[in-house]
Amino acid sequence: MLKIGIIVGSTRPGRKADAVAKWVLDVASKRTDAQYELVDLETFNLPLLDEAIPPSLGKYEKDHTKAWAAKIASLDGFIFVTPEYNHSTSGALKNAIDFIYAEWTNKAAAFVSYGSANGVRAVEHLRGVMAEIQVADVRAHVGLSLFEDFEAFTTFKPRDIHTPLVGALLDQLVGWTRALQALRAGTLPA
Ligand SMILES: Cc1cc2nc3c(=O)[nH]c(=O)nc-3n(C[C@H](O)[C@H](O)[C@H](O)COP(=O)(O)O)c2cc1C
Repeated sequence: MLKIGIIVGSTRPGRKADAVAKWVLDVASKRTDAQYELVDLETFNLPLLDEAIPPSLGKYEKDHTKAWAAKIASLDGFIFVTPEYNHSTSGALKNAIDFIYAEWTNKAAAFVSYGSANGVRAVEHLRGVMAEIQVADVRAHVGLSLFEDFEAFTTFKPRDIHTPLVGALLDQLVGWTRALQALRAGTLPA
């Protein structure tokens, strides 16, 4: 069974990311094509990157890095739930991505974002980051509006139109996650 992690991309007190991620999990959990789970950055409590050796060399020294690496290694694909901070993703999410390397490689990802312009600028930045960590990001993207999908900019009330869009995103993500699992296993046809 494929395992897909829904990464909660904000650690800010009062964050919206957890409500958005739980909604994605609720929609995804009705499917039987993968196991879906929340991966909350807050519970990993990562400091700013404090490993002396570049993560791409895989010589992690700190226990918090090893715990984060083990969680990401256990997953085949990812849904990054990202806010938009100053036209990019959050520092917390970028830092968590930067902390490790090989555990991301040859896996697939999709994005669910939110912001005044639906978080699209955060996602465009993340797509460049994905290329460098060798994650295949699907085209489908769910962008939520701070004006239209949050009551009084606070309480998450997604419009109904988004639920089928999450379904389309998951269809693409599961397909690419399965293909990349075969690539990692060396079982793709020649
Ligand atoms: C430091 C910071 C920068 C922000 N910059 C943007 C921005 O560039 N574009 C935007 O649409 N919203 C911006 N916002 C508003 C956030 O999208 C909004 O506060 C959102 O709730 C943040 O996600 P979170 O609550 O999960 O942390 C910014 C918020 C913060 C805290």
